[in-house]
Amino acid sequence: MVQLLIASLAGCTALDRDASREASAAATEPLVHHYGLGTSPTAMELAAWDRDVRPDGLGLPSGSGTVPRGESLYEKQCQHCHGAEGQGGPFDRLAGRIPADAFPFIEDPNAPRTIGSYWPYATTIFDYVLRAMPMERPGSLTNEEVYSLTAYLLFLNELVDRDVLLDATSLAAIRMPARDRFTRDDRVGGGDIR
Ligand code: HEC
Repeated sequence: MVQLLIASLAGCTALDRDASREASAAATEPLVHHYGLGTSPTAMELAAWDRDVRPDGLGLPSGSGTVPRGESLYEKQCQHCHGAEGQGGPFDRLAGRIPADAFPFIEDPNAPRTIGSYWPYATTIFDYVLRAMPMERPGSLTNEEVYSLTAYLLFLNELVDRDVLLDATSLAAIRMPARDRFTRDDRVGGGDIR
């Protein structure tokens, strides 16, 4: 991985992204030989890192999960940090909607930012939990387990029924209450402040 990092850093100054990518690929081999660092990643090694999920669901793997399975995983692996049913800590509160799905975060910075009150995309739960949780063992959960945990977190936020079967299609189809509260940042330059 080290030579990849060096190659991509070396490519950062190039204006054209495609040209930069080609340059990075071309630069990888000589760097390995020149500095003797690492080895070229195999397709399997790259696939193990290439697990990101986009807001529209692109990248979601096959498999599915259920609320009861997610509940039992949550109690064993998440509850000691996030509290029973996603509330009470000691760390981030994960559940709770704001009445009428209001969005009071500017007027009230202490309003609870939970999945149900703040997150614009349900697919982000899958992406985040897969790569970052549980905090002591990130990356240890299977895709099926992450689908089940995502189903349970959505259930706690009253966004799916208890009997949902969550998979790539049903997860990407969920419209979050805060979805329209965010706008795409399409600014292109430093002075372009709105
Ligand atoms: C050892 C404590 C710990 C455990 C165990 C843990 N988490 Fe977390 N979790 C955290 C902390 C701390 C954060 C905040 C991380 C940050 O802000 O960078 C967090 C953040 C999150 C968030 C994002 C919250 C937000 O609104 O930004 C989600 C979702 C989440 N955890 C889900 C889970 C799930 C699901 C599990 C069980 C598989 C789990 N966590 C286990 C400590 C933990």
